Amino acid sequence: MPLLRSRSRQRASTASSSGSALLSIEGLEFSYGAVPALFGVSASISRGEMVALVGPNGAGKSTLMSLLAGINKPTGGRILVNGDDVTGRGPAHLLGRGVVLVPENKGIFPDMTVAENLEMAGYTLQRAEVADRTAVLFDVFPRLRERLKQRAGTMSGGEKQMLSIARAVLLSPQLLLIDELTLGLAPIVVDDLLGSIKELNSAGTTVLMVEQSLNVAASVCERALFMEKGKIVFEGPTAHLLERPELAKAVLFGGHVGGEV
Ligand SMILES: Nc1ncnc2c1ncn2[C@@H]1O[C@H](COP(=O)(O)OP(=O)(O)OP(=O)(O)O)[C@@H](O)[C@H]1O
Ligand SMILES: [Mg+2]
Repeated sequence: MPLLRSRSRQRASTASSSGSALLSIEGLEFSYGAVPALFGVSASISRGEMVALVGPNGAGKSTLMSLLAGINKPTGGRILVNGDDVTGRGPAHLLGRGVVLVPENKGIFPDMTVAENLEMAGYTLQRAEVADRTAVLFDVFPRLRERLKQRAGTMSGGEKQMLSIARAVLLSPQLLLIDELTLGLAPIVVDDLLGSIKELNSAGTTVLMVEQSLNVAASVCERALFMEKGKIVFEGPTAHLLERPELAKAVLFGGHVGGEV
């Protein structure tokens, strides 16, 4: 199903799909003022992948996501999308390239209804286009259709997360970046959400998702990046991640892993 992908973007991705990675990051460095947060982060994500970004609190996961979405600009290194250097470009440019972030704080407007939140997200699109895409979205998140008139701030945590993902998906991402997909949600809601993300991924959206639980990461993502103290200390199959108890311990207790990639 060509879910929510504009024709022009599909053409673009087909034309450039000859082997190069959808996203390449090379030696990314970033500091908040004088405080360094990322120290030479490199990784690559191929089109169609669903990759987990895991690691303890303060490791730099959200910082990396903000760089990939163009919200913060790296102080060193490069970001390539479909082989094109987009280092230092802002969110609007990244959006134009199909890179869309679901932020850690969900980014929804609590005083607006679900319908208004979706309209706001799609304000750059034609009304008919929003209606079309919203209809497809409701197949993935039927709960949102039932709650169109509800104020977003009164929805449950899981429903808010569905809405924030739906807002991002309206923009036809090639690469969907999700910060903290399942944090604080009940297991049954997590299962529901993961199913929806899998569905989006199967329909052609590449996903990079920050996930606190290694088990959840392993249940839906074949590959993971593990960050600690501003560096990637593991990159590989999620199954291998589970065989490294020191990584699970680091996530739980914020301990030091100190391993190499
Ligand atoms: N706006 C900011 N100003 C200064 N330092 C910041 C800012 N945002 C994050 N940091 C610092 O940068 C480091 C990385 O933070 P980041 O939010 O990227 O971690 P994280 O891996 O997303 O953690 P969590 O799992 O808790 O969300 C931390 O030491 C944090 O204190
Ligand atoms: Mg974070």
